[in-house]
Amino acid sequence: MKRTIIAGMGHYVPENVVSNHDLSKIMDTNDAWIQERTGIKERRWVSAEGEDTTSGMGTKAARKAIADAGLEPSDIDFIIFATLSPDYYFPGPGVQVQENLGIDTVGALDVRNQCSGFVYGLSVADQFIKTGMYKNVLLIGSELHSGGLDKTTRGRGVSVIFGDGAGAVVLQGTDDQTKGILTTKLHSEGKHAKELALLGPATSRWVDRIIEENDPEDMSYYPYMNGNFVFKHAVTRFQEVIHEALQDVNKGPEDIDLLIPHQANLRISQYVQAKMGLAPDKVFNNIMKYGNTAAASIPIALSEANEAGKLKKGDLLCLAAFGSGFTWGSALIQF
Ligand code: UT7
Repeated sequence: MKRTIIAGMGHYVPENVVSNHDLSKIMDTNDAWIQERTGIKERRWVSAEGEDTTSGMGTKAARKAIADAGLEPSDIDFIIFATLSPDYYFPGPGVQVQENLGIDTVGALDVRNQCSGFVYGLSVADQFIKTGMYKNVLLIGSELHSGGLDKTTRGRGVSVIFGDGAGAVVLQGTDDQTKGILTTKLHSEGKHAKELALLGPATSRWVDRIIEENDPEDMSYYPYMNGNFVFKHAVTRFQEVIHEALQDVNKGPEDIDLLIPHQANLRISQYVQAKMGLAPDKVFNNIMKYGNTAAASIPIALSEANEAGKLKKGDLLCLAAFGSGFTWGSALIQF
């Protein structure tokens, strides 16, 4: 059986920086509240007149990851794209990346697992690579949240948190059994589906009603989050799923060299870090700069951590995510 390694990484974030102070000019919020509750100082939001899209940002991150792996787009034999904010309701953005990169007619799979999407995609890619079915899988997480947020005081509990951006990795098979993905763990709990969801623009039976009512007060057009409820579940599930993965490979928290958690909230990351007895420098956070970029947050952080020299050969890397669904998951990778 092959092992799956991360052969290349890349990320792209839009140029437009939106600070907490900028937000306080368009809604009743302030820098102190946002920083204290979330750790976020600023985020990137695509500019309305700009050309950035979810698939476009994903393509830019993908180009960097492919170059970082020393490959050409034509070497990619499967594409996985994780997002909760696709350009179109259908088709998903995987096929747009295939077209943008001029890759031959390889398969393109769209993953709809929100903030856990990258970890889910990683697990799927791992199965394909281990069995030898594919050699170079391109895995992308990309989000354009800013176009769909309620940027008024009414929506401040959600809109100050989310940012735009994309990250990508190229996953490759190797016969070297000393490195690569050791395990992945995936979970879901659909009874909490509506606690963090976008319910409005859904199946075709809604379209007639949306057009007829044309109701700007209909909050179902915007993402809804029961923040406290999600927070409590997140801190528990993060720890559970990391311990589950560690147990699977007979390791403990002390063996982790770097934990990259989905960047949901700095308080969540710090709580998990403290509860697991990890030193602060063993957890990588960049939510301060980008906010919560959902499926893009782990690959952006991974790419930045790598650029900053925080990943060394032989390190045990742990990825963990929790989000809408609820869905959650983890991965352990010997770097
Ligand atoms: O990525 C997927 C997973 N997502 C998460 O894990 C997110 C989990 N949840 C959270 O991160 C936190 O619950 C939030 C950051 C969303 C909210 O923090 P909180 O400490 O749970 O605040 P809260 O929702 O209980 O709101 C406290 C107060 C409320 O006012 P009252 O009722 O106490 O008067 C809110 O209206 O803060 C008010 N508030 C704001 N004030 C200023 C809510 N949003 C804002 C805002 N600026 N942006």
